[in-house]
Amino acid sequence: MNVQSLREPIAPQRDCLALVNLERYPVHNFDSPVLREVINAARKDLAENGCLRLPGFIRADAFDLLAEETTMLAPRALYSSDEYTPYGTGPDKSSHEGHPRRRAHRSTSGSVTRDLIPMEAWIQRLYDNPAIMSLVAACLEADEIHQFADPMRGLIINVMDEGNVLGWHFDANEFIVSLMTRRADKGGTFEYSPGIRAPGNENFDAVQSVLNGGKGLVTNLDLQVGDLQIFKGRYSLHRVNRVESGIRHTAIFGYAREPGFIGSAASTMKVYGRVMPEHIAAENNRHSDGLSD
Ligand SMILES: [Fe+2]
Repeated sequence: MNVQSLREPIAPQRDCLALVNLERYPVHNFDSPVLREVINAARKDLAENGCLRLPGFIRADAFDLLAEETTMLAPRALYSSDEYTPYGTGPDKSSHEGHPRRRAHRSTSGSVTRDLIPMEAWIQRLYDNPAIMSLVAACLEADEIHQFADPMRGLIINVMDEGNVLGWHFDANEFIVSLMTRRADKGGTFEYSPGIRAPGNENFDAVQSVLNGGKGLVTNLDLQVGDLQIFKGRYSLHRVNRVESGIRHTAIFGYAREPGFIGSAASTMKVYGRVMPEHIAAENNRHSDGLSD
């Protein structure tokens, strides 16, 4: 199958699994020994490193199609540029000089939110696909996973142009699933420090040594176009290095173990510059007990 045959006709009913390397990842045949082996290895990687890469998840002859799609949608991105500590806050002046809570790093990138991505886009259909969701759930040893109910954050195309960077941080979510559709020519590499903190142990000394440039605890993941990545970013400090040349596009699939996730109106406004009625409704529901915060 070549790109042309995937492109014509652009039929909404066309199964997006045509883009997946089904020989290597037979998600359509869940009980196959090949997929069982993928899942077993994935669970081991996630347990040991909090990071899983499924190389070549997308067929090489579909790379151009996805790159063209995200490139076509990239002008809809809203850019944000701000300085955050690894904990997503501003610098805490009460912490001593050099402390991770006081160390802010600039993050600059663009986001195309789900509501701006056509429903018939391949990237939406991959995000919606039940077989792919079942694979992600199995890798995470979950019975099932759910798409975010958030109409904006559910699916994001992260756009990094030349000079853009994502500074060292921990994620608020337990895990993210991402698919790279364009790789920078130079820079834009993903670095992480697996399991550097744990519940009840911030391990500030180790975090500080990474922020100071120590490489001992840092692993480099050379993501390629078409790789599907599952990353547990809550315990692993991570960043995307500055894009030195070229453009980096990554589709970020928002799934959670529980249904109904909607980001807060305040953080949505801060990051994406607007909110939708669903955010307001969720905010009202949060306060439906008649108590003040
Ligand atoms: Fe992150």
